[in-house]
Amino acid sequence: MRILFIGDIVGKGGRQATRALVPGLLSEYSCDFCVANGENMAGGNGFTKQCILEMEDSGVDVFTGGDHIWDQKDFMTEIDSLPNVLRPANLPDCQPGRGWGVFTARDGSRVAVMSLLGRTFMAAGADCPFATAERLLPEIRQQTPIIVIDFHAEATSEKIALGRYFDGKVSAVVGTHTHVATADQQIFPGGTAFQCDLGMVGARESILGRDIAPVLHRFRTGMPARFTVNERGIRLCGAIVTVSASGRAEGIERVMRDLR
Ligand SMILES: [Fe+2]
Ligand SMILES: [Fe+2]
Repeated sequence: MRILFIGDIVGKGGRQATRALVPGLLSEYSCDFCVANGENMAGGNGFTKQCILEMEDSGVDVFTGGDHIWDQKDFMTEIDSLPNVLRPANLPDCQPGRGWGVFTARDGSRVAVMSLLGRTFMAAGADCPFATAERLLPEIRQQTPIIVIDFHAEATSEKIALGRYFDGKVSAVVGTHTHVATADQQIFPGGTAFQCDLGMVGARESILGRDIAPVLHRFRTGMPARFTVNERGIRLCGAIVTVSASGRAEGIERVMRDLR
């Protein structure tokens, strides 16, 4: 089977591009399932139920979270009514939502998806992602051998370390959060597909999807600036992973598509 992964969807422009481009990509590459990181969907920060419902016809099966998961205050009460949204599994158990789920792909395969948050150069609050995934995997494996992880993290080293640690134990570890696609897609020796970062669905003329001027102002002056999202000239970045019925990754290919 084939799984399309796409990086952080940023704002309204990202949502529109996802809806416009994903159905075509799914058929062009014969993909059976699609996972997208959605943590910047709602105006650049977090999720709303409305945004998720709006994406019903997008072809995205599961939205994963990240450090912006609770940016929209109503989402903590909305998430439990949205079975296709995952918050990072290594946030405290008392938080609403769930960190992993098993879903049925269009070819009938069962696919387990886990959202994890990194800890290096990121705001504190997440438990160890290595320990969390290790604790959860035996239960998940009883349901399906096809297991994919979105590791939402800043440091390439932490991402590679997690990918290497779970090589042979999961089908894919793909990174999100930096909004910049990396060119290190590969299959590790144990059969796990890996890429440090998928990139984003956001504006080409931007700094990580935000308008350039306010970000420059903050870097140059150290003064606060309101970061606005550039909704025009959107590029979708992601990867397509081919997985055998046993859960072993057989290929990973980067994909990049501009909304014309
Ligand atoms: Fe992001
Ligand atoms: Fe993030």
